[in-house]
Amino acid sequence: MVITSKNEAETLAAGAKIAAFLRGGDILSLVGDLGAGKTVLTRGVSAALGFKKGVKSPTFTLMNIYPAKNIQGIKLICHIDAYRLKSSRDLVAIGAQDYFDDPEVLTIIEWGDKAKDILPRKAKIINIEQISESVRKIIYQK
Ligand SMILES: Nc1ncnc2c1ncn2[C@@H]1O[C@H](COP(=O)(O)OP(=O)(O)O)[C@@H](O)[C@H]1O
Ligand SMILES: [Mg+2]
Repeated sequence: MVITSKNEAETLAAGAKIAAFLRGGDILSLVGDLGAGKTVLTRGVSAALGFKKGVKSPTFTLMNIYPAKNIQGIKLICHIDAYRLKSSRDLVAIGAQDYFDDPEVLTIIEWGDKAKDILPRKAKIINIEQISESVRKIIYQK
C-alpha cells in the first residue's frame, strides 16, 4: 500500500488507515530520514488504537510504553526510537524483546533498520520518503 501525504494531518490519517490492518503481536519498523514523519505516523497509529496524547520520539529513553484500548487485541504500544542506538544489545538490555514476543503488544520502532539484527522476521516495514518540504510517500508492505 502506498499513501501520498501532503501534510501532517494526512500522515496522521495514514497512521489510522494502517492501524486497521494491525493485530496484537505485530511489529512496525519505520524507515525514513530525520523529519520524514515517523513520529507523526506513530501518533496516527496510536490514536486509532486509543492512545491519543503524549507520543514523542523516545530518542533518549529509547522506549516508551503506551496503553491502548484493546482494539484488535492490542493492549499496549511499545514505541522505540533506535536513532541513537549504538548496538541492538542496548535494546536487549532494556527488555525490548519481551514486548516483541507479546501477543497483546504492538511494537513500533523508528529507525528500525538500525535494529534489524534483533527484529523478528514478522516485522513489517514502512518506508517514508520525503518528496518535498511537505509531501511524503508512505510505503507499507503488508
Ligand atoms: N506530509 C507530512 N507528514 C508528516 N510530517 C510532515 C509532513 N509535512 C511536513 N511535516 C513535518 O515534518 C516533521 C516530521 O517530524 P517527525 O514525525 O518527528 O519525524 P521523524 O520522527 O521521522 O524524525 C514535523 O515537523 C511535521 O510537521
Ligand atoms: Mg521521530
